[in-house]
Amino acid sequence: MTRVEPVAAVDDELVEAMARLVPQLSRSAPPPTGDELEAIVTSPSTTMFVARDDSGRIIGSLTLVVFRIPTGVRAWIEDVVVEEAARGSGAGAALVQAAVDLATTGGARTVDLTSRPDRGAANRLYVRAGFEPRTTNVYRRRTEVGPSGKAGPGRER
Ligand SMILES: CC(C)(COP(=O)(O)OP(=O)(O)OC[C@H]1O[C@@H](n2cnc3c(N)ncnc32)[C@H](O)[C@@H]1OP(=O)(O)O)[C@@H](O)C(=O)NCCC(=O)NCCS
Repeated sequence: MTRVEPVAAVDDELVEAMARLVPQLSRSAPPPTGDELEAIVTSPSTTMFVARDDSGRIIGSLTLVVFRIPTGVRAWIEDVVVEEAARGSGAGAALVQAAVDLATTGGARTVDLTSRPDRGAANRLYVRAGFEPRTTNVYRRRTEVGPSGKAGPGRER
């Protein structure tokens, strides 16, 4: 049985878990440092969730951002990942549902996310979870800041 919980504090277990998980999400992004995780966890607009297996081991993660803009409260889901060996047991679905629940509690009218078409399992998961494709143009302007937060190559998503 998968258990999903918001991260309340950064510890070595979380740093180690993200070091395992982030390479399974992005080939270019380095895993977050403890300080970077601290910035996520202490941000009032951002909630990081972790999924744990029966033994309590962290097997997945998702980050939700809820923010107010002039047209209402919006929410974004980012960086959804479940450890390869633990996939197919509902952890991804449970993470997404926890994020949608918190966004709803926070007054978000919509929850947005993007996913590359070649991420088959992810796209199927989002549709099963009630997400619908939205017709809009998604733009990205790259800056000189790379994945490490310093000037360098951009990251892929
Ligand atoms: C997308 C992802 C988070 C889904 O996590 P998950 O815990 O496997 O999700 P669920 O268990 O809720 O559903 C997974 C699907 O895999 C199926 N499945 C069953 N056994 C499986 C296995 N051994 N391995 C993988 N998938 C399996 C499930 O039945 C389900 O059906 P589907 O393939 O038709 O979609 C995970 O595949 C992942 O981390 N992928 C790489 C990173 C990624 O693409 N992230 C999304 C970025 S937008």
